[in-house]
Amino acid sequence: MPQKNQTLGEFIIENQGEFKYSSGELSRLINSIRLAAKVVNHEVNKAGLVDILGAAGDTNIQGESQQKLDVYANEAFIKTLTNREIVCGIASEEEDHYITIKGRNQNHDNKYVVLIDPLDGSSNIDVNVSVGTIFSIYRRITPSGTPVTLEDFLQPGSKQVAAGYIIYGTSTMIVYTTGHGVNGFTLNPAIGTYYHSHPNMKFPEDGTIYSVNEGNYVHFPQGVKDYIKFCQEEEGNRPYTSRYIGSLVSDIHRNMIKGGIYIYPNTAKNPEGKLRLLYECNPVAFIAEQAGGLASDGFQRILDIEPTELHQRVPFICGSRNMVLKAEEFMQNAESQKT
Ligand code: AHG
Ligand code: MN
Ligand code: MN
Repeated sequence: MPQKNQTLGEFIIENQGEFKYSSGELSRLINSIRLAAKVVNHEVNKAGLVDILGAAGDTNIQGESQQKLDVYANEAFIKTLTNREIVCGIASEEEDHYITIKGRNQNHDNKYVVLIDPLDGSSNIDVNVSVGTIFSIYRRITPSGTPVTLEDFLQPGSKQVAAGYIIYGTSTMIVYTTGHGVNGFTLNPAIGTYYHSHPNMKFPEDGTIYSVNEGNYVHFPQGVKDYIKFCQEEEGNRPYTSRYIGSLVSDIHRNMIKGGIYIYPNTAKNPEGKLRLLYECNPVAFIAEQAGGLASDGFQRILDIEPTELHQRVPFICGSRNMVLKAEEFMQNAESQKT
């Protein structure tokens, strides 16, 4: 039974023992993310007031224009985690390469790497629509005491020890998992404290919401087109409702609460898919599975994919279990008819 009015800080301490390595390091790391999230939240909330809107003038490695808040959030998370000497490395959607971080006494003894999408849904900043942050945490696989290497970051999602997202919405929430279910905490901005508002979050097994950028329909694979037509047919609880915010975090959060499916397939413009395996799909997939949902590229479990590069993209289908299974069925049928 969750304790009434429990804060995130209290929850982290109470549940520290659930974690098999339990040295307190992971708890301190999640605490640092909580702190950085407050700093970013403060900045996001005043985005309409100060001259922080608009493109910063740079493009990131993937050729997308960076918004000022992307840059701010990226720096806030990297600075917090670096200053606290708590991780051995960070990879960010906004950085070309991973960053090596020294621990206390200038050593390389820290055990965890963090991968982060500092500001997700950045095209929504200018229009006052919810954005988020996504994070993913692994134990390094190279020996402690040596600098991290690329292979510490290129682990399959099934090896994540924790993952979460922050949603800067009508209220600010942190939702995360350490592999023991999913818990959500809502920020009380008046006192800067997160409260345990959403214990043990679960995707409903079935849902009636589908979330996809249907403007790209003509470029979708046949299986996705077929599944969308299925969503729109009049039969039983269909047609489903279409909801698409364009911030992955917000779309997933809503679908986890109400029941639904999120789809970002490969398209002509993005032949590998658009979403990034390491910063977006893996953490969201870990959360989805911990909440009883599924995440797939249409043919295999996202968490089983062996990453080959930091900024790798994959097609992404995630949400209520029965909906994802149905979408996979359509995709696999269409594929088998090709041959
Ligand atoms: P980011 O802002 O980190 O680049 O991510 C944007 C992603 C994701 O949040 C969202 O679901 C998707 O891009 C929206 O893409 P479209 O505008 O192509 O629909
Ligand atoms: Mn993103
Ligand atoms: Mn981003």
